[in-house]
Amino acid sequence: MDRKKSIELLNRAVADELQAVHQYMYWHFHLDDQGFGPLSAMLRRIAIMEMGHVERLAERILFLKGDVDMVAAATVQRITEPDAIVAKACEMEQGAVVVYNQFALECAKLADSASKQLFEALVNDEEAHFDEFEKQLDNIKRFGPSYLALQSFSGGSAAQESSPGASTVA
Ligand SMILES: [Fe+2]
Ligand SMILES: [Fe+2]
Repeated sequence: MDRKKSIELLNRAVADELQAVHQYMYWHFHLDDQGFGPLSAMLRRIAIMEMGHVERLAERILFLKGDVDMVAAATVQRITEPDAIVAKACEMEQGAVVVYNQFALECAKLADSASKQLFEALVNDEEAHFDEFEKQLDNIKRFGPSYLALQSFSGGSAAQESSPGASTVA
C-alpha cells in the first residue's frame, strides 16, 4: 500500500473541507446579518458537518503516520446575495462528490480500503448536502427571490421545508 499517495489524497480533501468550513461560516454570518434565519442556520449546521469531515480525514492521516496540512484549498469568495450563495453551495457540493468518487477509486487501486470507505462515506454526506441546497435553489426558481426572505417569518425551521406554503404562519 502506497501510504504517501493516500496521505496526499486525504490532505487534498482536508484542504477542500477547510475551504467549505470557511465559506459556509462566512455565508452563515452574512445571512444571519441580512435576516435570513433558516438559511443561515442551515449553513452553520452543514459547516459543522464539514468540520467533522476534516476530523475523520485527519484521524486517517495520522493512522497512516502522516501529518495534517491545515491549509484551506482557497480563500473565501465574497458572495453575499442569498440566491448566489445557494447556487455556489450546490456547485461546491457537486464538485466534492466528483472529487471524492475519484479519490475512492484511486484508494481502491492503492489497496487502501479504509481510505476508500472514508471517501465513499463523504460522498454520501456531500450528496445529501447537495440535495438540501438544490431544494432551496428549486424553491427560489419556483417562488421567486422573495422565497428566502419569507422563510424568516415562518418560525425558524423552514430551511427543511419543501415550500413556503407548507409553513404554519400564525
Ligand atoms: Fe465535506
Ligand atoms: Fe458538504
